[in-house]
Amino acid sequence: MGWLTDTLGTSIGKKIMMAVTGLGFIFFLLAHLAGNLTIYGGGDTFNAYAEHLHSLGPLIHLAEVGLLSMALIHVITGGILFFQNRRARTSRYVVNARAGGRTIGSRTMPYTGLIILLFIVFHLVQFHFTDKTDTTIFEIVSTAFSNPFYVALYTAVMVVLAIHISHGFWSLFQTLGASHPKYSPVIFIIGICLSILFGAGFGILPIYVAFI
Ligand code: HEM
Repeated sequence: MGWLTDTLGTSIGKKIMMAVTGLGFIFFLLAHLAGNLTIYGGGDTFNAYAEHLHSLGPLIHLAEVGLLSMALIHVITGGILFFQNRRARTSRYVVNARAGGRTIGSRTMPYTGLIILLFIVFHLVQFHFTDKTDTTIFEIVSTAFSNPFYVALYTAVMVVLAIHISHGFWSLFQTLGASHPKYSPVIFIIGICLSILFGAGFGILPIYVAFI
C-alpha cells in the first residue's frame, strides 16, 4: 500500500492514477456497452447474457472489487486535484492550452465527473442492488424505461458521459506521455469517436426499450 500513498502524494502521481483508472473505465464501458447491446436481441437474449455473467461467480466479484477500487481512486484523486487547482488557480489540471486542451469537455471535467458519479450510484441502486427474486433483469430494465422520466434522465446523462470522455481520453494519453504532434491529433479524434460511440450506444438503448 506504501507505493499507492507515495504515488498519490505527488501531483504527477495523482494525474497518472487518474489516467490509469480512467483507461480502466473505458475498457469497462466497452464491455458494458457490448453486453447491453444484447437487449436488441430481445428479453431472452439479454437475460441469458446477465445469467452468464452471474455464473462467472468469483471472477465477476473480483472484477467488481477492481471496479470499485478504480472508482474510489479516480473520484478521490479527481476531487483532491480539483480543490488543489482551485486554491492554486495558476496551474490547472486537465485544462491547459495545448492542442485539444480547451474544449467544453476540458472546462467541465469536474462537473461532468460529479454528475456521472451521482448517476452510477443511482444506476446501481436501480439495476444492480435491486431485489431480483421473481423477476428478470430485462423486466427490471424495461419497467424502468417505461417511465419517460428515466428515459430522459439516462439519455441526458449519456450526453454528459460523452462530453467527459471526449476530453478525458485525450487527456489521459497526454498524462501517460503520448504528447506528440503526430499522435496527439489522432488520439483526440479517437476520443471523439469513443465519446460518440458511448453517448449514442448507451443513449439510444433506453429510447429503444421504451418503444418495444
Ligand atoms: C442505457 C444505459 C445502461 C443500461 C441499460 C445499463 C444496464 C445495467 C444493468 C441491467 C446492470 C445490472 C447487471 C446485473 O446486476 O445483473 C448494470 C450494472 C452496472 N452498470 Fe450499467 N447500464 C447502462 C449504462 C451504464 C453506464 C453509462 C455506466 C457507467 C458510467 C454503467 C455502470 C454500471 C456499473 C458499474 C454496473 C455494476 C456492474 C457489476 O457490478 O456487475 N452503466 N447496468
